[in-house]
Amino acid sequence: MATRVCWLGHACLLVESDGKSILMDPYFTGNPVCPMKADDAKADFILVSHGHGDHVGDTIPIAKRTGATVVANYEISEWFKAQGLTKVHGQQHGGGFQHAFGRLKLTLAFHGSQLPDGSYGGNPCGLHLFLNDGTKIYNAADTGLFGDMKLIGEEGIDLAILPIGDNYTMGPADAVRAVKLLQPKKVLPIHYNTWPPIAQDAEAWAKQVRKETPAEPVVLKPGEWVNV
Ligand code: NI
Ligand code: MN
Repeated sequence: MATRVCWLGHACLLVESDGKSILMDPYFTGNPVCPMKADDAKADFILVSHGHGDHVGDTIPIAKRTGATVVANYEISEWFKAQGLTKVHGQQHGGGFQHAFGRLKLTLAFHGSQLPDGSYGGNPCGLHLFLNDGTKIYNAADTGLFGDMKLIGEEGIDLAILPIGDNYTMGPADAVRAVKLLQPKKVLPIHYNTWPPIAQDAEAWAKQVRKETPAEPVVLKPGEWVNV
């Protein structure tokens, strides 16, 4: 397997898999903990989980500069087209599609999805990637805990990416319960320590995960990588 993931702070992630660069929720500009500028980001694909500004982020300028294909739910994909993007692919919850990097399935997420200009952004998504090298990554994105995570886990997860920040998403305790439902091999916490309302102790959370589950927690600093 040749897949690695870089956490760029908040929910901004870069996946490199078999020569393809896949950005998820590319929030560079205005992200107080992101170590990289949007102008330096590489992307063949940009996956957007929902319409909030901290997830749509710099999708439009990065897509225009790199020619990346943008994938999101149908409503957000239409909004991107209205903003002038042409390489856009819309999907919907439960639906998968074989992209050049592998199959992407959109999953449930319990959250909101209003776009930055107030437009309707459909329903928020999680991202389940079945990469060409066999690696399976589930990015829950912004969500509360839900029991159907058990169904998502049944498809196999090498790396689960879970919010632990609380307030806007699951907090640490519910994220441990999510690990029990998903049964991933590794788990990476995100969506915390960006702003004071979502300040969390990720090391303490990792200790709890080790104590209560067989999963291996991976705590990164913004800009660090994990091999999946
Ligand atoms: Ni959000
Ligand atoms: Mn968010």
